[in-house]
Order: sequence, then C-alpha cells, then structure tokens
Amino acid sequence: MTDRPFLLAQISDLHVTDRPGAKTPDAAARLQRVLGALAAHRPDAILATGDLVDEGSASEYALLREILADAPAPVFLLPGNHDDASALRRAFLEHAYLPEQPPLCFTLEHLPLRVVAVDQTFPGLEGGLFMPEHAEWMHAALSADPATPTIVALHHPPFLMHTRFDEVGLDGADLFTAVIERHPQVRRIVCGHVHRAVIGRVAHADVMTCPSTAQAFTPNFDDESAPAADDPPGYLLHAWRPRAGLATFVMSA
Ligand SMILES: [Fe+2]
Repeated sequence: MTDRPFLLAQISDLHVTDRPGAKTPDAAARLQRVLGALAAHRPDAILATGDLVDEGSASEYALLREILADAPAPVFLLPGNHDDASALRRAFLEHAYLPEQPPLCFTLEHLPLRVVAVDQTFPGLEGGLFMPEHAEWMHAALSADPATPTIVALHHPPFLMHTRFDEVGLDGADLFTAVIERHPQVRRIVCGHVHRAVIGRVAHADVMTCPSTAQAFTPNFDDESAPAADDPPGYLLHAWRPRAGLATFVMSA
C-alpha cells in the first residue's frame, strides 16, 4: 500500500456554549482537544453532524466559529435538534455549500467519497422528522450521481437504539430506508444524536453514530434516565481508498 487514503473525520454533538450553568460547560475545551488530536491524522475534510452548539444562540455560534478557525481541514456543518438552523446559517455565511434557508440539506461533490447530508431537524422538536419532501430531495441528490461511492449524513439515527433515545429518534425512518434501498452506491450512513458510537444497518448500508466531543451518554435499557458517562471526547475517522473500501475508526481524544 502506497497511496494514502482519503480521510473524512466526523465530529458530532459539540454542544459548544458560553452559558453559565450549562450541562456541557467544558464543551469548547473538549472540542479544541479533538481538533488537536485530529490534526495528527491530517484529515482531508471534517464533517460535523449536528448539535454544534447547545442552545442555538448567536453568541454560541460566534464561539464555535472562533474554535473552528483552528480546524486542521475544511469543516462542513449539518444542524442537530439543539441548533437554530437560521442562526447557524447567518453565523457561517461563507459556507457556500449550505442553502440560504433551512432545511440545510447539502451535497459535497468535490471529494473522492460523495457526501449527501440531510437536515431533518425541525424547530422546537427534539426528535427528527424525515418527511416526503426530505425523501424527494435525497432521492434526487442520490440519483444525480449513482456511480460515485457515497456517504449519507443526518443528525438522528435511522435505526432503533432500544433505549430512551428511541422516544426522540427519527420519525419517518421507514421512508428513509425506502430511499436508501434504491441507491446501492450508499456505502455508509453517518449520524450523531446518541453521544456514543453505535452500529446499525439500513437496507444494504451500515449506519454508524459518532461519539460526542462534549459528553458521552451511558445507555440504560431499563428506565428513562441514564447518567452521563465520564468518557473522553470522541470522534470518527472514515478512511477510504477506491477498490480497497471504507474503514471507520472510533477514536477518543
Ligand atoms: Fe446532542
């Protein structure tokens, strides 16, 4: 092996905040720690899969901007249920891959692995909603290039966790699955939301959720509350070479 793989780093659930008394007071420092660890791998691009800040305020996005200025590769931003997609768009005006108005769905065409990112968040809703308009957009986006291996990204995982997270999971996961079934070039589906690395499957594609940079959750299969885990901040590294395929590393910083 001589050729270096294309490296797509994934970070998620950053929950960056400047609010006194927040649940993730050290989120900014932990994100900085992840970006420092990432730099050693020399990623080609960084995909952030939602809950970029904690409350969606302009000052939180200003703080996020400041931190991401030191990122070791271009960062692509997808909102989560803690984000305010309009405020996010206003704070990152130069991010030309994002549409001008929510939903902030986008595709990345210039990478060896194509990225199709679906914003299925809805203002005021903790769970995700995958509606017929999302299905229409995603089907059109995937149909536009059926030949290039593709990663589909969204905030809410499209499979069940068997924990309390299912109550705030993805409504419309069946519709999501029906679209993926029609597009064999989808190699991996990547998500956030559950603050831990979990593997699932949708149609022919593996689904991988990303650990949080801010705070890990302990799964609790018996009741509705689970203590926050004292894990180090985490991230994923998706390594790709044509013909050799895709390998996803679960990392901590
Ligand atoms: Fe989150």
